[in-house]
Parts: sequence; structure tokens; C-alpha cells
Amino acid sequence: MVAASILLNKDFAVGTTDPRLFGAFAEHLGRCIYGGLYEPGHPEADEKGFRKDVMALVKELGPTILRYPGGNFVSGYNWEDAVGPVEDRPKRLDLAWRSTEPNTFGTNEFIDWCRATGIEPMLAVNLGTRGGDAARNLVEYCNHPSGTYYSDLRAEHGWSEPHDVKFWCLGNEMDGPWQMEAKTATEYGRIATEAAKMMRWIDPSIELAACGSSSRRMPTFGEWEDTVLEHTFDHVEWISLHTYLNNYAEDTAAFLASPDLMDDFIEEVVAIADAVAARRLSDKRIMLSFDEWNVWYRTRRGSEGRTKPGWPVAPEILEEIYNMEDALAFGGAVISLLNHADRVRCACLAQLVNAIAPIMTETGGPAWRQTIFFPFADMSAHGQGRVLNGQVKSPTYDARYYDPRNTQDLYYPAKDVPYLKTASVYDPDRRTLTIFALNRHLTEEMQLDVTARSFADLTLEDAHELHDGDLEAINTKDEPDRITRKPLEGVRVQGGTISATLKPLSWNVIRLVER
Ligand code: AHR
Repeated sequence: MVAASILLNKDFAVGTTDPRLFGAFAEHLGRCIYGGLYEPGHPEADEKGFRKDVMALVKELGPTILRYPGGNFVSGYNWEDAVGPVEDRPKRLDLAWRSTEPNTFGTNEFIDWCRATGIEPMLAVNLGTRGGDAARNLVEYCNHPSGTYYSDLRAEHGWSEPHDVKFWCLGNEMDGPWQMEAKTATEYGRIATEAAKMMRWIDPSIELAACGSSSRRMPTFGEWEDTVLEHTFDHVEWISLHTYLNNYAEDTAAFLASPDLMDDFIEEVVAIADAVAARRLSDKRIMLSFDEWNVWYRTRRGSEGRTKPGWPVAPEILEEIYNMEDALAFGGAVISLLNHADRVRCACLAQLVNAIAPIMTETGGPAWRQTIFFPFADMSAHGQGRVLNGQVKSPTYDARYYDPRNTQDLYYPAKDVPYLKTASVYDPDRRTLTIFALNRHLTEEMQLDVTARSFADLTLEDAHELHDGDLEAINTKDEPDRITRKPLEGVRVQGGTISATLKPLSWNVIRLVER
């Protein structure tokens, strides 16, 4: 048994979580849209073709904002192809995922889907093969009330009220050579600035996110953010970050340490953004939009999981099957995001259905929850509020991160990794204190002692764990509840002292209420 402790004071907080921290992402990629969100003719489809079984799971998952339509896809997307009468919409080759895009689902269907699920829409514009002109026209189409070409076109298409989309991404991963018309930081900085100016001239209420590096391991990381923000600083509110955790090395200790790299990444991007502000003596603070994060590695390398021959429509690609171990690393990422609630004010789990997703479906068949569903749903249900600045004491371990740069193997040391990774959130409205705790020890139980100061009387409302003796256990269509939450037994609460025993390799949520 190892011992760890947390000292909390209700008055000491990192910041308050923005509801947008609990966002997700839906790209025209594989079966995310077609066969995922949208499947006309499915027994569960509504009159618009939206799968009601998927919508029910999405509501349970609880994402607050949804990024669309890409991803790599957006860098070759003509938004005009996917509005208006469906029978007139062209089919196109999508070079990002080597698929045929039927365009039967487009911006208006996406907005309808968001309205039906109560999720805020977030749109990305194509700054790869297109530019500021197509971007400003899309803002006019979506947000201008009426009386102009594009706003009247929207009304003609059946949506007389503006969509009022607030959050816009200026392209996607524009530093990546895999992107259609990738750019240097200077090229992108210029194009993003000009697009941003025009988009905001049409609708001054919008918020704009510039692309950060497509990962911390990009050779240009740091320099890219600096140059891009030098150009865009006065025109954007956000800079994006992307991270996909991997277990290529099949090293559980290292894999579970790897979410800590997200902490470093966030703190580095904050430092760069604030340095750009400092150079101009500005008190403006650029916020971070972690608009792609997840575990992804099995279907990432090589062509097999990423593409299928013959330009198919909605191929079964990136259908990563998540096991128990992935859910633990994923839970670590949840904690990293919560603990940076002051600057990471938006984040999107990539993605939502079928493609690297917490929800799986069978085309024509059922839908079910993958293992990673649970830590996300825990975060969206109990992550609202003030993230407390706890003093955490935990024994540590050393590991070796494996974080490849493209095909080059790269190992580097992970030193002093605490076995306990944790975040605590106090919600003043519900008067609840929620402790999220990941025990990363491979074999030992953890005795956790929490001292919660300056709270009124705390009583236990719920305590549950995600744990399985088999790290490779998964949920399937036939066994959809193999991995699910179970009660965490034996939590003791006395005054401001909470103690619990956490199983080795477990994700735990302890929720208390003030009386
Ligand atoms: O989410 C899958 C892909 O990962 C996205 O299209 C891209 O932005 C990233 O490289």
C-alpha cells in the first residue's frame, strides 16, 4: 500500500471551469458523421436522419460545445457544396481521409443536430485550399440576419433565423505537412489575420482561435506559436493545442505518466502567449483551446487504420477500440485539463462517434459506450466550478515517455511522476466538492487522505471507480457494459477529513456535499 494526501482549502482555487472545457469534435472522417450522428433509414433515426440512440448517449456524455467539420478534412472543404437541396450537392474526393464525401450532411444539418442536443456549435473554416473570402462568406451565411446574398441564401435553404455561431477556428493544424496547403508560420499568420479581420467585420460578436502547433513534438513548436501570435494577437482570443496520447511502447507506467506532458504543453503555450503580450505591453490574455485531445495510436500509424482503398464513403477508419488502460491515461488527461482551468477555457475531445471516439455504433445496429466514455462523462457532470489549488503529496516513480516525432523513435525521461494524479472541484451552486483521483501504481493500493479546510459539514454523496483486473478489457456490441463505473466502497468522511483506499490502476470520483 502507498499513501498519498491532498490538502484543500475552499478559498484557494486555480480558477473556475468554463463550460466549454467539456467540448468534443465531430469531423467528416470515417463513420463519425455518416453512420454515427447521421444515418437516415436507421431504425433509431428521427425525421432528419439523426440517430436518437446516439443522441441519448451524447447527452449522457455531456459535451457542451462541438467542433466541426474538421480536422484535416476542413483544409479541402468547400462549405458551399453541403448547403441547399441535397440532390444538388456534389460528391467530392476528400484528400485528407481518401474518401468520397457525399455532402448530404453539411453546416445546416450540423446546426440542427447541435440544437437538438443542446450543444454549442463551433465551426472551423478552410484556410488550406481556401482563404478569407470563403471564410467571411460562411460567417455571413451563418450569422447575418437577412438582406444579403448569403443570409438570404440561408433563408432560401430553410433556415430563416441566423445560426449565431460564436466560436470559429481559423483553419486546422496548418503547420502539418499532411495538411492540404500547409503553411509556414508567417504565411499562416498573415492569412489568419486577414480572414479574422473580415469575419469579425461581418459579426463583431464572434470569437476566433488561431492554430497552434499540431503537437508539442512538432519541430517548429514554440516558434510557430510565437510567430503566429505576433501576427494574430490583436485579432484572436484563442490559440489551439492538440495532443494524442500513445502507448506504442506498450509500457503502462510510461503511458499513464504521459498526460503530464499535457500539463507541460499548456504551461509552455501560456508562457509564449504571455510573452507576446508582454512585448506589446498588453494586458490581453490569449486563452487556450485544447481543441483535439484523446488517446490515439493503434489506428494512427501506417495506412491500414487510416484509409481504405477505393475512395469509399464513410469507411471504417480510425475505429480505435479503447481498453481499460486507455481509460486510465484518458482520465489523467481530464485531470490535466481541469487543473489548468484558468487558461484552458475550451477543449474538445477528438472525436465523438466511431472515429477515435467514446461512442461506437454499428451501421444499422446498436450504439454503445467505450471505456473512455466514463472519465469524460464524470468531468462534464462534476467538473463545473472552482478547481481547487490543492497541496498534493504522493510517492513518485520514474518512467520513459515514448513520444515519436513522425516516424523517428524518441524516448525521454519522465522523472518524479506522482502515483496520484488528482484534481478537486468545488461547485458553489450545488455546494459539492468532487475529487477526481487516478492511482497510477501498477500493483499497490493507495491510501488517500484528504483534508478539506473551510468547508461546512461534508457528507458523502457518491463515490465510484473505474477498474478492471484486465487492462485490455474492452466494451463491445455484445458486451457493452464490461467496463463500467462501480461503487468505490469504504470511503470515510469525518468533519473535513476524507479517506479512501484506491485500487491499483484505477480512476476514482468521490463527491461530497456541504450541509
Ligand atoms: O482527429 C483526427 C485528426 O487528427 C484530425 O483530423 C487532425 O486535426 C489531427 O491530426
